[in-house]
Amino acid sequence: MLPGCLVWIVAAALGLLLFGCAGPGTTTTTQIEYQPDMYVQQSVRPLGTDHVDASLPAMRVPPAHTVPVNYTPFPQPSDVSGVDSIVDPLPITPAVLAKGRQLFDNYCIVCHGPLANGLGYIVPKMTQPPPLIAGAPLQFSDGRIFTIVTQGQGNMPPYQTELDSAQRWAIIHYVRVLQLAANPSPSDMARAQRAGMDFSHDLPPAEGPNGPIPGSEAIPH
Ligand code: HEC
Repeated sequence: MLPGCLVWIVAAALGLLLFGCAGPGTTTTTQIEYQPDMYVQQSVRPLGTDHVDASLPAMRVPPAHTVPVNYTPFPQPSDVSGVDSIVDPLPITPAVLAKGRQLFDNYCIVCHGPLANGLGYIVPKMTQPPPLIAGAPLQFSDGRIFTIVTQGQGNMPPYQTELDSAQRWAIIHYVRVLQLAANPSPSDMARAQRAGMDFSHDLPPAEGPNGPIPGSEAIPH
């Protein structure tokens, strides 16, 4: 049971709330702005002018050699003829490979497929990309793959702005893992068998337009 005066206070508050609301057609804007400083602020607007000197554009060219905070620059081939001499600068560690796998599975898998055999989920809606685990890419240098990922090739888009150079290099280490997994040497196979790995459930290679694709499995997708 509410005490008598509290009932009146609640009733008065309700009345204020009801009669305080604007009726239809009177106004559509909020009269009181709560914390307007997020909206009215000194920050520069894209393509606007400088708020100190209106003759200058708001967006300035950063000083030479400026790099973003926490960014590590890695070699970027600018001369295509020199790409083959660049080796992946990242160490091969479980963390780098896990990162490379995560990025490959986010950015490359849709076209190249989880095993990089060219059977990505987009195929056959898009031209089937070449497998990265057989043929020429096995001989490609790290720098060449880096350049393809950076600049794109044919139907493949460039990833220079989507992935920073460290991310691209991590992906290349992971592509090498997929290549090794698809082309195990006899000693790798012997070691796997000694470790008790069971290959009896392996599926035959998937059929591509040019016959079976080595290292790929006939998993429907
Ligand atoms: C939109 C689909 C698509 C995505 C996403 C994609 N690629 Fe490609 N990729 C292609 C196609 C198509 C080709 C063949 C291009 C050509 O030579 O005409 C190709 C070619 C390549 C080649 C060269 C193969 C060769 O034999 O010349 C490499 C290496 C490669 N891609 C790596 C990657 C990596 C790594 C990623 C992820 C960062 C990636 N691609 C993302 C479609 C894609």
